[in-house]
Amino acid sequence: MNIKHIAIIMDGNGRWAKKKRLKRVAGHKRGAEVVREITTHLAKKGLKYLTLYAFSTENWKRPKLEVEFLMNLLDKYLKNELQTYIDNKIKFDTIGDITKLPKRVQNRIQKTKDITKNFNGLTQVLALNYGSQDEIIRVSKKMCENKIEFTKENFEKNLDTANFEPIDLMIRTSGEKRVSNFLLWQLAYAELYFSPTLFPDLTTNELDEILNNFNTRERRFGGV
Ligand code: FPP
Repeated sequence: MNIKHIAIIMDGNGRWAKKKRLKRVAGHKRGAEVVREITTHLAKKGLKYLTLYAFSTENWKRPKLEVEFLMNLLDKYLKNELQTYIDNKIKFDTIGDITKLPKRVQNRIQKTKDITKNFNGLTQVLALNYGSQDEIIRVSKKMCENKIEFTKENFEKNLDTANFEPIDLMIRTSGEKRVSNFLLWQLAYAELYFSPTLFPDLTTNELDEILNNFNTRERRFGGV
């Protein structure tokens, strides 16, 4: 595969549910199934990194019940999908400040990381309590405190994404054309793709079409 790292803003769960006259959280539940489908699909195709925006630093502003539902869904997802990680040699990782998540979710995250840490298939990275501006401030504070010289290389070494390859392609579903505080530094030379499909309706077929579209693009990274 000529593409190593895909990042996705999984948007449109609420609208999907509304269209079907269901509660918003039903969209998140279906969204979690799509996460499993696309992760295993891309793992089988040989992708190395898949970063998914699951909960932003701004998502705490949502109704308390929706936040609780998302935290429970995450906990359940990691528990139920452990076998999927093992069967497909998927390594699990996170970006964002997870110290603010409920303790039981933090424990589940740690356990999943420990069990999958030596797997060499796809690395699935969930962005949890992640905000790019928050990340940039955290990195800057750490570098000042440790008197690290501000160079591009040193900055990248301290980002949450330090261990991953650069992002080749960022996909946002649901027709919104914004970056919404996701990976602002890391998207510098990424290709962007905006799909009108609501995330719960995203299929592996559409994903393959998006990859075909990516293959037609000429990436110059500022050169000619
Ligand atoms: C955005 O849709 C989606 C989120 C804020 C949550 C993303 C979560 C999932 C896809 C499911 C959980 C994931 C895992 C890994 C278990 P929205 O609610 O903003 O939709 P709307 O814009 O239509 O209201």
